[in-house]
Amino acid sequence: MSHLLLSMTVNGEAVQVAAPAHHTLLEVLRYKLDLIGTKQGCDKGDCGACTVQIDGVPQLSCLTLAVHAVGRAVTTVEGLGQQAGGCHPLQDAFDRWNAAQCGFCTPGILLSAEALLRRCAGREPTRLQVCEALAGNLCRCTGYTKIIDAVLDVGRQMAVAAAASAGEVAHAE
Ligand code: FES
Ligand code: FES
Repeated sequence: MSHLLLSMTVNGEAVQVAAPAHHTLLEVLRYKLDLIGTKQGCDKGDCGACTVQIDGVPQLSCLTLAVHAVGRAVTTVEGLGQQAGGCHPLQDAFDRWNAAQCGFCTPGILLSAEALLRRCAGREPTRLQVCEALAGNLCRCTGYTKIIDAVLDVGRQMAVAAAASAGEVAHAE
């Protein structure tokens, strides 16, 4: 089977990987790059367990051909922790709120939630916005309440930090 040489950035590092043209991004991440934090659930777009970010936007990696990511920046759950120096505030909140049980859905949910908080740009998200952002990520264990509470908690902290920093700037002017 002929392979293509695919170049992309994964979690901030330039990578080149050889894969058949029909392989999905999920297959390349898990089976070529050993980034097994991205989960393979239904493999047909139903569960959201395979969610990663491409150029900051959540995408289902089981429905995305790896060639689609060529020249683009892919972030997996492994990169989420790296960005924040080891543990992203969302990961910390999931721990504090007991928002993961088996944890299979957690990587995808973290990437959907992080994209929402970035879109909010320091404004506190509503419960409805969190529910909408996570609508494509199924969880069989938790009943969702603690997941939503954990995301809201981080959203609140980020809004408080943004308001404090805006206040400091206004004070300095
Ligand atoms: S594994 Fe991709 S949506 Fe389920
Ligand atoms: S914690 Fe088990 S599927 Fe969500």
